[in-house]
Amino acid sequence: MKRKTFLQMGLTGMTMAFGKTAWSLKYYPKESDKTWAVLYGTWCGSSRDAGVWISEGMGGIADVFDVREKPDLKRFDNIVVGGSIRGYRINPLLEEYIVENKSWLKDKVRGYWAVCNNMGQPPGKQQKETYIDNHLAKLCGVGEVPGRVFAGRITKDLLEKEAYDMMKSIPDNDNLKRADCLAFGKEILASVHMRDKSRVTP
Ligand SMILES: Cc1cc2nc3c(=O)[nH]c(=O)nc-3n(C[C@H](O)[C@H](O)[C@H](O)COP(=O)(O)O)c2cc1C
Repeated sequence: MKRKTFLQMGLTGMTMAFGKTAWSLKYYPKESDKTWAVLYGTWCGSSRDAGVWISEGMGGIADVFDVREKPDLKRFDNIVVGGSIRGYRINPLLEEYIVENKSWLKDKVRGYWAVCNNMGQPPGKQQKETYIDNHLAKLCGVGEVPGRVFAGRITKDLLEKEAYDMMKSIPDNDNLKRADCLAFGKEILASVHMRDKSRVTP
């Protein structure tokens, strides 16, 4: 397509030309069979970054999708699901996606994560129970996969007014650690390798 024609198409034309495919964050520095996806729900981006870093921990083999794009993930064999917490729950769009797609999603879930502030304290066993075991795992209907809760961040300039008013006494903070997310990506891959090994007949 000539450059001029492309520019003249504008946004509407481009949507028609390329269809309504969800745009994932694609990072494949190495060979990949592209069977992995990471799906996240976020408000201000902590879980987007966690999702990309989890994929990096897996060697960058996963496409990373924002649930707001309502991606069709049926073509992937392995999906890691996670998101940020507000009012003790994941983003309602992620919750809605899981409920609507549970019939096929449950066979592909390989890991969960959540990102929260936990009043400035490092998340531990209780947060894992609350946000993973009793929330994400129950929504998806799959329990036996790795799950991790990460400390997140507050950037008040990114918050909408209502959330800003709730958070105004809390100083901005940034506790999300890339190293923790990378390690979790490795843990997920290791758990799938273990599962596959145990399925091989002796
Ligand atoms: C309005 C609001 C409600 C929140 N509710 C919770 C909560 O219930 N529990 C918690 O531990 N953290 C809570 N947090 C902290 C967020 O989970 C944390 O800042 C996270 O990193 C934000 O993710 P995001 O970048 O996707 O918005 C809340 C933050 C906001 C702004």
